[in-house]
Formats: sequence, structure tokens, C-alpha cells
Amino acid sequence: MTAACFLTIHMTNNWYHKTTIYQIYPRSFHDSNEDGIGDLKGILQKLDYLQELGFETLWISPFFSSPQIDLGYDISNYTEIAPEYGTMDDSLQLIDEVHRRGMKIVLDMVMNHTSAEHPWFIESRSSRNNSKADWYLWRDKPNNWKSMTGGSGWHYAKERDQYYWSSFLPFQPDLNYRNPDVKKSMLDIVRFWLGKGVDGFRLDIFNVIYKDAGFRNNPFSPKLIPSEEDPSGFFQEAKYTMNQPESFSFAKELKSVCNEFGEKILLGEIQGNTELIKNYMTQNGDGLGLVFNFEMLNFIFTARYFSDLIKKIERDFPDPLMPVYVFSNHDRRRSIHRIGEDLQKAKLLHTLQLTVRGVPCMYYGEEIGMTDSKFPFGSAFDPIPHKFKYIPRFFFDLIGLTINRDEVRTPMQWDTSQNAGFSSAEQAWLPVHNNFKTINVEKEHQETRSLLNTIRALLKIRKEEIILQEGSLECIEGLPIGVLGYSRTFGKMKLLILLNFDKQSKEFPLDVSECIFKLNAEDEIKNKAIRLNGFGAIIARITSD
Ligand code: NOJ
Repeated sequence: MTAACFLTIHMTNNWYHKTTIYQIYPRSFHDSNEDGIGDLKGILQKLDYLQELGFETLWISPFFSSPQIDLGYDISNYTEIAPEYGTMDDSLQLIDEVHRRGMKIVLDMVMNHTSAEHPWFIESRSSRNNSKADWYLWRDKPNNWKSMTGGSGWHYAKERDQYYWSSFLPFQPDLNYRNPDVKKSMLDIVRFWLGKGVDGFRLDIFNVIYKDAGFRNNPFSPKLIPSEEDPSGFFQEAKYTMNQPESFSFAKELKSVCNEFGEKILLGEIQGNTELIKNYMTQNGDGLGLVFNFEMLNFIFTARYFSDLIKKIERDFPDPLMPVYVFSNHDRRRSIHRIGEDLQKAKLLHTLQLTVRGVPCMYYGEEIGMTDSKFPFGSAFDPIPHKFKYIPRFFFDLIGLTINRDEVRTPMQWDTSQNAGFSSAEQAWLPVHNNFKTINVEKEHQETRSLLNTIRALLKIRKEEIILQEGSLECIEGLPIGVLGYSRTFGKMKLLILLNFDKQSKEFPLDVSECIFKLNAEDEIKNKAIRLNGFGAIIARITSD
């Protein structure tokens, strides 16, 4: 074995660098008790589906006690289960059953803020001199800081005649991590769940966990709309409200707590440019093991875009760092929206996602091509649209912002029965999308070349081929316009991935051996040449002596 090969094996040895992640939004996945709301037992009933599909790690959005104003991202008790989702026993059974199937389970840890109904905050706001008085960020007068959702993030509490800070929405007050008791209490909660056997955490808005100790005013920025790579916005640079040096060291502290329990995943939700994201990760594995690469949520479906993206990611996140390829989540429009709801393009997109060097993270329903719904802002469960109800919808459509996140959270489409098999209640918490008769698991299960079966086949190949889990990646130059190609190498083993982003078929000479996957029946390798149908793809093995 060569030294280079040994290095590859050594560096990417963590299970979470090789895994595949599936995000479950519990409210919308499966309802076991006919109340129209998905629950933990509902997830339990669908574990065989997920295991058979081939995902290895399940990330479950929050199911802890909560007034549910932000549908679980406003927690009022971190060690209790919200009754609509089940009981502590259900959660323990879920952890066991996931493990029994050889899979991993990752919880969503909202450490930055609690619900305003959390007993800590109730106490903290009650007076200026209670035992939790400085567990949150309090000031006599607001400074100029804007919240992530726009407008001042300072909110008045008459009990103290002071203002508290909230990075997101007013009912989600930020904890004060400069207070050691706060940090200890939160780390105890982390230990509580690790002690129950979970395999790690997705970390909600981890980039805002610390704010400037001196509350210095943020500088002006001409930017109105925050973006994935630069979260500054609302005419303000988020210099003192995000990505503070203490947040980077806290990532390490959190990792060392996790290490007490073994090799655990920490997956950060962090907006910011590459250099900044890397501050949370660190080269020697003592920070966050994974951070979502959010810039690709805004992908453009061309070979050029993905070629540039992959090259940039390879340059910025070389081994031992590992990127996360994510195209959808519970906050953003589903990936299929960006490709005109075209299932053939979706197959190509996910062929890329499951063969590049990186951890793929898929959102529930993405595997069958579920689409977004359209709901009026006024009746939304999501609190965001209520904040912006006076701004006409077309403005947000124009700038591509998802304001009503209910639209991307509709119930999972299992079959053609009532509520798409999500719930036998008369009414699901959100209406099922009216395309459920054509887009559902049961139907796609029966179609050989459906999106679902394509993803299943790719997950199987990925599991079997260590090259796809750990191999290095090199882009292939000189291919026809519209075709993207890259090779994955592990030791002496090599795979070649060719993807045609054009609707025209492409033929070009290339000497490869065995084809181990083709997206269309017509994609083929013949006489030392490749033929790719429109939006076709091939994975081929290259054998060298
Ligand atoms: C990010 C989460 O993804 C989002 O759903 C939530 O509303 C905010 N953080 C606040 O916790």
C-alpha cells in the first residue's frame, strides 16, 4: 500500500465522514395516533423503509417540549418530549431501533436560545436580581444590532425595565454563554442525550452562539438581504452578532464533551464564507466534524456551475475536512423547485450528490421528488410570514426567499390513501400536496427507474464502494459542453462519474471498463466511447494494473 493510500484511509476514518444523512421533520413524517401530527412512533413505523432505502444516519428536527411557536425550535424543556410527539420511552425506543438496524441517530440541538416559556427565561425576566438574572442578554438600552429576521433583536420586558436580545424571533431569547452556569447546564443537556445513546447533534444557528462582550454597534453594510455566504443584511454587517472567536472555541469544548461518549457527529448550521466555516471545524478533528455547505442551496443546474462548485469545495475543504452536500431543508424551497420540478433532472442532481466527495444530506420527501405547496401567509403555522405579512408575496418570490416555511413542510407522501398515508386523522396539520396520487413512495417503489429507486441504487453502490465513501476526487477536463465528469480514487481503485446536464444526448470517446451504474437504459459504454442520454449519467470502473 502506498503512503498516499494509507493517508486517505487514515484521515477519513470517522464514521460521520462516510455516512449518508436523511433529515426527518417529525411533525410531517408519519402520524401514528390519528391526531394529524407526525410523531416518534410514526417514525418508528417507517424505520424499515429508511433502512431499506439505505440512509445510514437520521437527523430528526426538534421534538422536545415546546410551545411550538417555531414548531419545536423554541424549546421549553430539553429533556422532555413534546406530548404531540410522544414520550421519553418512545424516544429511547427510537434510539434503540435505529441502532438495531445498524443506523445512527442525530438530534437537533438548539443551544443558542430557549423558548420564552422556558422556566430559565421566566425566572430571568421576572426581576433584575433573581438566580437566573444574567442567564440571558439584558441591557438597559438597545444598541443597533439587527436580528437575523430583520428589525431590532432587542425586546422590552417591563418586569426589569430592560431589553433582552434574541437573534431570531422575540419569543426565542438568546442564552448568555459567558455565564459559566448557562454553559454547564447546556452541556449537561448534551451529556443527558449522549448518555441515552444518540450519535450526535445538528447544531441550530451555531454561528450566533456568542455575541460581542462589549455590545459594540455593528458597522453599516449596503446589503439588504442576508445570503448563505454572507449573513450580513438589513444594512448591517453582522460583525459583533455572529461568528465571534469564542464561538470557535466553544465548538471545540462541545466536541470534547462529545468525545467523553465516543466518536459523535457535530453538524453545524453556520452561515458564512468558507474561511469562517473552517474556523469551527479545525484540521485535527477537535472542532465540528461537519458543517452544511449552504451555498449550494442556491445551485444552478448546469455542468459549469457544479464543476466550479466542486472545484471550490475541493480546494477549500481538502481531506481531512469533509463537506456536506445539501440541496433542501425545512427552511428552504425544495431542490426540485430549482429544476422546474423535473424528475429526470432530480435523478441527475442526486447522482451527483451521492457520488461526490462529501456527506450527502437529504430532506424527507426529496427522494420521491416532493414539491412545495403554496399557502396564504395569514394562516401560516410558521411565525416568519406573520412578521412580513405587509410585504407582498411577489417581492419574496422575486428575490427567491422562502418566507412561509409551511410550504416546504407538508406531510410525507407515502401512498394514494387519505392524507397520502401520512395520517388517518380527518385532517393533517398541513394539507397534503395535491399531487400525492402521482408522487408517492408506494408508486415510485414499483417503477424500476423512479427517482426513489435511483436513490436506493445509488445508496447501495455508495455503501459497497469504499471509493465513494473515502476516495479523493479529481475533475475531468475536456469533456463535451454540458457534461460534468470527475473521478474518485482510493488506493489503486478508481471510479469515473459522468453526468450530462444537457437535454441533448452526448457521445464522446473514452476508454473505461465496467459500467456499474447508468441513469437511463440508453446511457452506455460501447467501443471505447460513452453515450449519455439527455440528463443521463454513468458510473464506470477504471481498472489499472
Ligand atoms: C434555524 C432552523 O433551521 C429554523 O427552522 C429555526 O426557525 C431557526 N434556526 C431558529 O431556531
